[in-house]
Amino acid sequence: MIQGLNLIISAVWKLGENDKFAGYKDALMTETISITRTKNSKINEVDFKNLSFGTVFSDHMFICDYKNGSWQTPEIVPYGPMEMDPASKVFHYGQAVFEGMKAYKDENDKIWMFRPDQNFERINKSSERLAMPAFPKDYFFEGISELLKLEKDWIKTGIENSLYLRPFVIATETGVSASPSNAYRFMIICAPAQAYYSGEVRVLFADTYSRSADGGVGFAKAAGNYAAQFYPTELAKQEGYQQVVWTDANTHEYLEEAGTMNVFFRVGDTLITAPTSDRILDGVTRKSIIELAKSKDIKVEVRPVKVKDILEAARKGELKEIFGAGTAATINPIVGFGYKGEDFDLPKLEDSYATKLKKELKEIQANLAEDPFGWRYEVK
Ligand code: COI
Repeated sequence: MIQGLNLIISAVWKLGENDKFAGYKDALMTETISITRTKNSKINEVDFKNLSFGTVFSDHMFICDYKNGSWQTPEIVPYGPMEMDPASKVFHYGQAVFEGMKAYKDENDKIWMFRPDQNFERINKSSERLAMPAFPKDYFFEGISELLKLEKDWIKTGIENSLYLRPFVIATETGVSASPSNAYRFMIICAPAQAYYSGEVRVLFADTYSRSADGGVGFAKAAGNYAAQFYPTELAKQEGYQQVVWTDANTHEYLEEAGTMNVFFRVGDTLITAPTSDRILDGVTRKSIIELAKSKDIKVEVRPVKVKDILEAARKGELKEIFGAGTAATINPIVGFGYKGEDFDLPKLEDSYATKLKKELKEIQANLAEDPFGWRYEVK
């Protein structure tokens, strides 16, 4: 698979001031990462001012295969198609998990990531639920670090710019017997990113379809969770909504997640979001917003959110905002919602929590503001 110059580098995970991440000290990588650089960078063909989310990919990708019970030597190779056997288990049983992360560059050309420890922990939780092996901490962090150093020109400065990282794991063993694969591929690809949604977002509160159920895989970032949303979301789009706010599968009485994001409601001046559970993704942006809002003396309630209460608040004029929160979109304001044939518009606020929290979060992420939480991580 590797062609051209094969540069073997010895990578050492650098810690320095990132003491919050000191846990990685005990996991220094003993292996080397094999790096093959591209001879034909695509970077000059990319219009970085007009990016459609997740459509353009950088020059290199990280690959690490699992076989015979262990992860093999990782590689970074030129980005491109790869050959797979049609009987690979991922195609038949959907054993696949992923993460979403972002890298930012500041005015001094330093590269930053936001709470990567959370993504590392979550991808392994997702893998465990899908009977897949855990990925080693040192491979994850050194893989990202080496990849970002190679792709540094793909990260543009400015608060609206980032490089979206998509780590994912797929089952590669061939065979159509319905059992966990014995072979896997862990990969990271990178896409330069600006906004995730370009227009206004209206949502439909689900009253028939469900995203997840008790005891299921809703908390995991399993690829199939997203595939299962596409059909009901297409139906919602035909009615003029961009996303569905998922309700609990048992009663459809509780609001849980907004499309591909966690969801927040502002009733009066209180911010409300559902607690995480085995049905709800433990979003990194979600938990950061809760902490950030509290630190700004915004009252936050993490509790089950009843559809009935939100409708009542909307009718009384007390529902001021709804917004989605996720890595790709950061915070995405929702302008209105529909439920069982009735439509509601949300007020246009000058001083919305969504705008304020998004600005503050993005400034922390891009090293444009102090980071009192120790969330920011410098890649060196
Ligand atoms: C993210 O926000 O990173 C996600 O994983 C959502 C994805 C479907 C774009």
